Amino acid sequence: MTLRTVIRGVGSYLPERTISNAELASQIDTSDAWIVERTGIHERHVAADGEKTSDLAIAAAKRALTHAGIDGAAIDLVVVATATPDQTFPATAAKVQAQLCRPGIPSFDVQAVCSGFIYGLAVVDNFVRAGQCKTALLIGAETFSRILDWQDRTTCVLFGDGAGAVVVSAEQGTGAGTDRGVLSTHLHSDGRHHDMLYVDGGPSSTQTTGHVRMKGREVFRHAVVNLADTVHECLAANHLTAADLDWLVPHQANRRILDSTAQKLGLDPAKVVITVDQHANTSAASIPLALDLAVRDGRIKPGQLVLMEAMGGGFTWGSALVRM
Ligand code: UT7
Repeated sequence: MTLRTVIRGVGSYLPERTISNAELASQIDTSDAWIVERTGIHERHVAADGEKTSDLAIAAAKRALTHAGIDGAAIDLVVVATATPDQTFPATAAKVQAQLCRPGIPSFDVQAVCSGFIYGLAVVDNFVRAGQCKTALLIGAETFSRILDWQDRTTCVLFGDGAGAVVVSAEQGTGAGTDRGVLSTHLHSDGRHHDMLYVDGGPSSTQTTGHVRMKGREVFRHAVVNLADTVHECLAANHLTAADLDWLVPHQANRRILDSTAQKLGLDPAKVVITVDQHANTSAASIPLALDLAVRDGRIKPGQLVLMEAMGGGFTWGSALVRM
């Protein structure tokens, strides 16, 4: 017998305020046509004044708990993937734990920027399979609007705020690929590429929060290669081909990256869940946001095979195969 980490519930939250491409074009030198053609993005959501990453995380988590039919008191681990915590410390996860769960359970943040949800899923899966937790809350939550330079058209048009969450629990499986739950996770990083995507501030360097800086064209080039590699790695580890997948739920950075990954895999584009048009790049929140949408609209069904992949600052990248 093998312990498996099964996704029992999903939830997400997007702040109410949206900013359209046209609104951005009225403030900086850009256009709706450029943004749509180069990225596929139509609008992004932005947190209200005073609305913090933890507020987004808690809203998404409540929906995931309701969907799972599980009370917060049953949770014995909280992990929040975020690069935009409320404060440098304590962890945003501790705020979620205080609001929704029992005192005393472990809670911590995972920082892998846009790959944060995949990293978080790997961490939670390892906790579950090691027998160290039974039911966990994993949340990807970001307020990138707070670390954007709104005068820098090469970055500010690309990102948005949001949160997505999953409730997972331990179930006995057989060890075969027919089991429900996380079947494998694959994580990578290469810190030599720090300067291609980073924030130019931090507690120990500038004592400021800083702003996102990115060499977009270079990141794009690395993304298409690294994502295709990790998807192939994940399929190979499970003795599968792309034709075996029911869904690809990728990190939502750029429509052209999503199309390229599907094309390299020879995957039917209709099997790719795309949300980047609606909320831009929400970093660690984008995979659970897309997962939630496709589960709730009935596309992703119990028993189906879902491959998730992401790439972000660091660089970090990775993939996960999950049977829902
Ligand atoms: O989630 C983490 C991973 N992040 C990513 O995966 C992002 C990866 N990169 C990208 O998505 C794309 O590279 C971008 C969307 C950032 C840029 O698209 P691109 O096709 O690579 O454009 P580019 O950077 O090569 O820029 C083309 C032109 C430049 O003008 P020149 O130098 O050719 O005259 C830019 O100055 O587009 C200009 N440009 C803009 N024009 C209008 C850059 N940003 C804008 C803008 N509006 N917002």
